[in-house]
Amino acid sequence: MRHVGKHFWVTALLGLSLAFTASAQTMGDDQYKPTVGQSGKDVVWVPSPDQLIDKMLRTAQVTDKDLVYDLGAGDGKIAIAAALNHGARAVGIEYNPEMAALAQRNVERAGLKDKVRIIRGDIFVEDFSSATVVTLYLLPQLNLRLKPILQKMKPGTRVVSNSFNMDDWLPEETIETDRGRGYFWIIPARIEGQWSVQWGGQSGQLRLQQKDQMFDGSFNVQGASYKVEKGRLRGSEFSFEYQRGDGSVAKVTGTVDAGRLQAQQQVLSASVPLTAQKQ
Ligand SMILES: C[S@@+](CC[C@H](N)C(=O)[O-])C[C@H]1O[C@@H](n2cnc3c(N)ncnc32)[C@H](O)[C@@H]1O
Repeated sequence: MRHVGKHFWVTALLGLSLAFTASAQTMGDDQYKPTVGQSGKDVVWVPSPDQLIDKMLRTAQVTDKDLVYDLGAGDGKIAIAAALNHGARAVGIEYNPEMAALAQRNVERAGLKDKVRIIRGDIFVEDFSSATVVTLYLLPQLNLRLKPILQKMKPGTRVVSNSFNMDDWLPEETIETDRGRGYFWIIPARIEGQWSVQWGGQSGQLRLQQKDQMFDGSFNVQGASYKVEKGRLRGSEFSFEYQRGDGSVAKVTGTVDAGRLQAQQQVLSASVPLTAQKQ
């Protein structure tokens, strides 16, 4: 993916655009009519198809508790859909001043001035750290530039991208529609490092390595070392397994927050609380 040139993706976006011109025109404006495929600061403008927007927002389970940021907002249609169909507050960041003004008019026309804000700005400059959901329709290399920023966001923040993935960051879900594909991620908490663990009157030490929402490592208990397997995070929630000396498999599920793990450890039908502190 990284080796594909920018022109390939511009052509790909333009290819998609032909199918969606009608949708763009319905969002158009008397004063300013953008052209699908027109250049933008880092990526051209192509509006996401309604059907895919709908599925992206449903996959992210957007509700009226959410603050949705659309990075590269175009005519504002994702921010508007998040507010109109899910009751969310939404912010669209758009670099092109005429496009941002059009998005603002579309917001006002939809009667959503109180719910949707359009910022004329650069997605690599503006602060979107308060978002609970981030939506993207950019380019693979722009997604990768955003990845470190996204991964510093609050655990549990959801990210949905039209068309483009994030290289080797595995999505939680791939969204398929007959108007295009999307990808869905949940920002994982950080669980890597060394942990002092207590459960059922015993103690041990967890050493964990993490890659995105996956982790593995070792669980050291009284001189024995067990391999941590199937380590997964979904926001702050985690689970992993290890095989004990007697061959039984222990399943640990819980939450990680502010240097503390709180979990249940289940072996066969017996479940005991497990806690840990970051060393
Ligand atoms: C492919 S369009 C997507 C529009 C909208 N999000 C949607 O899905 O319908 C990308 C948009 O990002 C805008 N854009 C490009 N680079 C940007 C940047 N650095 N900051 C903010 N907006 C940018 C373009 O002007 C264009 O409107």
